[in-house]
Amino acid sequence: MYMCVGLVIWSAVFVTTQAQGEKRCGHPAVPPNARVTLSSNDIVPGTLATYECDDGYELFGGHQKECTLKGEWKGDSPFCGTNVAFRKPANQSTTVRGGSASNGNDGEKTTEHDGKRCTETQREASPWWQVDLLRHYAVKVVRVTTRGCCGHQPLQDLEIRVGNSSTDLQRNPLCAWFPGTIDEGITKTFTCARPLIGQHVFLQLVGVEGSLSLCEVEIFTTEEFSNDRCAPAGVSADIELAAFSRNCYEFNVAKGASFEEARKQCQSHGGDLIHDFQGATSSYLTQELERRKSQLKTQLVWIGAQKDPGLTSRTWRWVDGETVTKPTWGKDQPNNYNGEQNCAVLDGGRAWLWNDVGCNLDYLHWICQYLPPSCGSPDKLLNTTIEGNNYKVGAVIAYKCPEGHMLLGDKTRECKKDGFWSGAAPSCKYVDCGGLTSIQDGELSLIDSRTTHDARAVYSCRENYTLVGESERTCGDEGVWDGEAPKCLFDWCPDPPPVASATVTVDGHKDGSLATYTCQNGFILFGQQSVTCTLGGVWTGTTPSCKYVDCGTPAQVYKGSFRLLNGTTTYGSLAQFNCENDYWLAGAEMLTCNRDGKWSHDIPSCELITCDTPEVPAGGYMEAYDYNVHSTIDFHCEKGHKLVGEHSLICQPDGEWSGSRPNANTLTVESYRPCHTGRQNW
Ligand SMILES: *[C@@H]1O[C@H](CO)[C@@H](O)[C@H](O)[C@H]1NC(C)=O
Ligand SMILES: *[C@@H]1O[C@H](CO)[C@@H](O)[C@H](O)[C@H]1NC(C)=O
Ligand SMILES: *[C@@H]1O[C@H](CO)[C@@H](O)[C@H](O)[C@H]1NC(C)=O
Ligand SMILES: *[C@@H]1O[C@H](CO)[C@@H](O)[C@H](O)[C@H]1NC(C)=O
Ligand SMILES: *[C@@H]1O[C@H](CO)[C@@H](O)[C@H](O)[C@H]1NC(C)=O
Repeated sequence: MYMCVGLVIWSAVFVTTQAQGEKRCGHPAVPPNARVTLSSNDIVPGTLATYECDDGYELFGGHQKECTLKGEWKGDSPFCGTNVAFRKPANQSTTVRGGSASNGNDGEKTTEHDGKRCTETQREASPWWQVDLLRHYAVKVVRVTTRGCCGHQPLQDLEIRVGNSSTDLQRNPLCAWFPGTIDEGITKTFTCARPLIGQHVFLQLVGVEGSLSLCEVEIFTTEEFSNDRCAPAGVSADIELAAFSRNCYEFNVAKGASFEEARKQCQSHGGDLIHDFQGATSSYLTQELERRKSQLKTQLVWIGAQKDPGLTSRTWRWVDGETVTKPTWGKDQPNNYNGEQNCAVLDGGRAWLWNDVGCNLDYLHWICQYLPPSCGSPDKLLNTTIEGNNYKVGAVIAYKCPEGHMLLGDKTRECKKDGFWSGAAPSCKYVDCGGLTSIQDGELSLIDSRTTHDARAVYSCRENYTLVGESERTCGDEGVWDGEAPKCLFDWCPDPPPVASATVTVDGHKDGSLATYTCQNGFILFGQQSVTCTLGGVWTGTTPSCKYVDCGTPAQVYKGSFRLLNGTTTYGSLAQFNCENDYWLAGAEMLTCNRDGKWSHDIPSCELITCDTPEVPAGGYMEAYDYNVHSTIDFHCEKGHKLVGEHSLICQPDGEWSGSRPNANTLTVESYRPCHTGRQNW
């Protein structure tokens, strides 16, 4: 058996050796919001992995990797990010010549300043520009477009910091630093060594006396979905959608509608009027409206908040039913003018603070809020593959590792309502549990001839042996086979041990078979009557013993005899007694020899048969010697009496007197009273 196991392992080694010639790469890692295509399904060396980002994301790093002869991927890791700096509040150290800070993130990438397209600070020590992303993001890439040539000094010693401080630049961690001069009129990408989490991004010419002028700054993260992912079905293409803090917003600022009409329009696309917002989102909405202020026909924009019905009610509720906890009312609001102002708006005349108005005003603009309908392409780590290609909200994808690898982390991820995948991409770890020792008196085989993760080993036993324990083991997560090795136990029981004066019958020799002992006649069984055959080939239980029991020959009986029905006087034997003629048996006729070696009853005796004392009739007398069997009694009458009936009676062997009525059981006085007075008429 051991030989056989050895063979299996040897063949596995052989296969591995063969594969070494042409090592393959595992499935390549894919960052979030990216897709990969392989030049060959069999990932042999030379295979190219080409990356592409989802719509609205830009690819940084390498867009291609190659599988090397060593079975490793060569090439920069790609990164698919979306710009979160666009139109967020920007500020800079000073502003001169129309170079306002907001020119740095207006989406206008021209490198000609022309007095308004780029930012510009005055000439000063360590000038800076910053943008407030309104919430924190993991920032990975910052892309800077510098101002075109001539007339302005190029950027020098640029430092980029990302963090949560809006005032103390130096407290924010450094993302990138570029010593020396950056070319004019170019777009340059800076990559943080690791993603930095922060709300504020600063660009500064450190230790330089000069003017900072930037034409565009873009800040890329994977943590926001692109505007492209916002589009709910049915929203016309000319409507501008924007993503912020994992919500999509639709600014309906060209049309007018009442509260209910506006709300219905949002709902028809699966959303609702903007609700549940405060803090960063509030700032974002405010700044988006402020930017559009000149195009607005009215400065009033519906928000999804209404006052609870009732004249005295003061509770405002979002359209999703939640109570508004921190409304930002404008001065003297809500005033509930005329008692009919039950809807809320953002009021441009009040710095976009809230105002209460009548719900029926039908010329107000509005903003819809949507959740994204799907998640971006999910990320995965090296060697994992993903099952499932439905990325809609609520869909679940499953990660798989190659054979022999275990999965570390979340096995499945769900596309959450916010448009992001739950959990994190899991990784794969190669696990080898190694060989198993062979099993005595049995066979061990490895399914698929491997000992790596999830491999299965199956044990079996040879004839006459039974497997005790689990017959299958699996190579588990810790590189350890689960459970314990089973055993093959001999399960054929030999003939059961003999017991003196007993015979034994067996109903088999296998596990569970019974051997039943029976004592010979005259012997009594002490202990359990049977033993059981158990694994290992042994009879378990204590064998019984047979004890001889003899009551001895009963004593002779006067005028009687006995017969031993079985010819023996041992346990269970019967002795039957009877008496000679004219004698009666007094006591038990049949005696049994008991377990205790004694007869069941006292030895009986034989007694001469006698009849009862007869009644002497009045007017007569009796002549008798005795009342024993065969004895005769004679009756005589006194003078004046006449004898009627029998003159003498005989004691019969049944103990009854003979008489005129031989069949009668009892004798009545009348029947044998033979003497009468003559006068009596009978
Ligand atoms: C990935 O798979 C390759 C080939 O199967 C293997 O050599 C490598 O060790 C695996 N790497 C990890 C991290 O599992
Ligand atoms: C912009 O920066 C200037 C100079 O540091 C500062 O005075 C001003 O308060 C800042 N504005 C905002 C909105 O942060
Ligand atoms: C900024 O704040 C976020 C959220 O509190 C935190 O996760 C992050 O680490 C902070 N960033 C820095 C650089 O401290
Ligand atoms: C199994 O046990 C029985 C009884 O000892 C024997 O006759 C038989 O040859 C055994 N089988 C094998 C394969 O050893
Ligand atoms: C003795 O004989 C009787 C009658 O034949 C029988 O029932 C009984 O079992 C016998 N006893 C023994 C111990 O053999």
